[in-house]
Amino acid sequence: MLFSNCLLTWTFLTICSASPTAPNQIKLPRPAGKYEVGLSITELVDHNRTQPFAPNGTLVKLMISVFYPVTHQHHSISGAYMTPDAALIEDNTLSKQGLAAPNGTFGKLALQLASDQTIQSRKDKSSCEHPAEYPLVIFMPGEGTTRLFYSQIVASVASKGYIVVAIDAPYDVDVVQYTDGSFAYINQTLWANDNPELADVALLAIQTRMADVSFVLDSLSNTTLAHSLIPNLPAYGLNTTHTAMFGHSLGGATAYSILDTEDRILGGLTMDGDLNGPPLLNGSSKPFMFIGSAGHTRENANDDPGSTWLSGWPKLLGWKKYLMVANTMHYDFSDYPIVFETLGITPANGTAFYLGDIKGKRQLEIVTSYVGAFLDFVLLGKESRLLDGPVKDFSEVTFEN
Ligand SMILES: *[C@@H]1O[C@H](CO)[C@@H](O)[C@H](O)[C@H]1NC(C)=O
Ligand SMILES: *[C@@H]1O[C@H](CO)[C@@H](O)[C@H](O)[C@H]1NC(C)=O
Ligand SMILES: *[C@@H]1O[C@H](CO)[C@@H](O)[C@H](O)[C@H]1NC(C)=O
Ligand SMILES: *[C@@H]1O[C@H](CO)[C@@H](O)[C@H](O)[C@H]1NC(C)=O
Ligand SMILES: *[C@@H]1O[C@H](CO)[C@@H](O)[C@H](O)[C@H]1NC(C)=O
Ligand SMILES: *[C@@H]1O[C@H](CO)[C@@H](O)[C@H](O)[C@H]1NC(C)=O
Ligand SMILES: *[C@@H]1O[C@H](CO)[C@@H](O)[C@H](O)[C@H]1NC(C)=O
Ligand SMILES: *[C@@H]1O[C@H](CO)[C@@H](O)[C@H](O)[C@H]1NC(C)=O
Repeated sequence: MLFSNCLLTWTFLTICSASPTAPNQIKLPRPAGKYEVGLSITELVDHNRTQPFAPNGTLVKLMISVFYPVTHQHHSISGAYMTPDAALIEDNTLSKQGLAAPNGTFGKLALQLASDQTIQSRKDKSSCEHPAEYPLVIFMPGEGTTRLFYSQIVASVASKGYIVVAIDAPYDVDVVQYTDGSFAYINQTLWANDNPELADVALLAIQTRMADVSFVLDSLSNTTLAHSLIPNLPAYGLNTTHTAMFGHSLGGATAYSILDTEDRILGGLTMDGDLNGPPLLNGSSKPFMFIGSAGHTRENANDDPGSTWLSGWPKLLGWKKYLMVANTMHYDFSDYPIVFETLGITPANGTAFYLGDIKGKRQLEIVTSYVGAFLDFVLLGKESRLLDGPVKDFSEVTFEN
């Protein structure tokens, strides 16, 4: 068995999807956790469901990025932050919002990933005898923003010892590019700010995302698929029955509502999200945490005057925490701060991008430290002083009772 597991690992190693970037690339920081990080990207089609925001009959087709910890690596390589097409689209989209991002800007950006695994595992026979068991975690982006604009956060969480699967939400994020090169763009009619049905659209989007998460967990319970995506897994593949979810904004709302419907998700965390999905009718005793922007109290949700938190908070019957980070705004809980800082570009007007004054590296450290502490608590039963209350070394973080 052990031997065949090694063979399997060997066979699939070459699919690791780190692709070379342009020679004038600019590297994001190396994920700061204990491990280096590998990345596989794949497409999953649910033949049993259609997309509600796409032309009638369009099957649910998801892109996922799987970031996983890698042991025994000695150096890192660069992997393109975005596909060249997606990068150009984002250059244009963000330029229109007032960022100095001429064509080629995001195409230069690279993640620092683990070096070629084939060579490493050849040297390291022991890794075959002790396949790595890391808990599985699901991530979802905010509405309107590709999962790719969260890759540095997700990779950094993975480097703490989690296999993190970032699931995109076609037709509700700006753009998703599939493996055949085709695109799914956001349904602008439905998501227009002046659409009087916007609340219903958001509700349906969250319900769709909840079903997407369940479908991805079903798919990843297929050991052949799991082994093809991640080298050196134990024979049983991934532990899909004991997972947790975090997300930004609408992705965080999904992490809340899904507590009710998905037994495989043991706890949830939202980064600056409101609770505009299906309510937890009878309450949930699973752990849940909010970490959000300065001033986004439960009473005063910036984007939702009749705060959903006032009705949603009492439905959380178990462990729960509400944290806010000083000098931040909504998009400080994406990669924007670290990406803009790394590229050396500053939006002329940060508030137009919903960015506060916090530095990119610092915000990345705060977000990944607190998300990591939460996952350690939910999935490994580890206590952390970060979750007990304010601490000196993260003085930006305050707690609301
Ligand atoms: C497809 O959906 C139907 C009804 O929603 C359900 O009964 C069935 O189990 C699903 N099939 C698969 C393979 O998920
Ligand atoms: C937007 O969603 C509507 C409703 O499902 C659908 O009929 C339409 O084709 C979608 N438009 C685009 C451009 O996907
Ligand atoms: C969408 O397709 C289904 C069957 O595929 C059909 O029953 C339904 O009427 C169609 N809806 C629209 C709005 O065309
Ligand atoms: C930038 O890229 C877009 C999309 O590929 C293209 O339409 C546009 O002409 C390009 N602009 C410049 C200045 O090259
Ligand atoms: C499991 O995944 C493999 C590889 O993607 C696929 O070929 C196989 O059909 C899947 N098995 C099931 C039962 O879905
Ligand atoms: C998944 O994790 C749980 C909790 O640690 C454990 O009880 C269960 O046996 C694990 N499943 C597998 C297949 O290892
Ligand atoms: C809530 O509780 C009621 C009464 O016990 C039950 O009928 C219903 O199915 C529950 N709903 C959920 C979502 O658990
Ligand atoms: C920055 O953008 C915000 C939101 O778009 C706007 O309210 C504010 O007036 C702008 N400030 C400047 C200095 O342009």
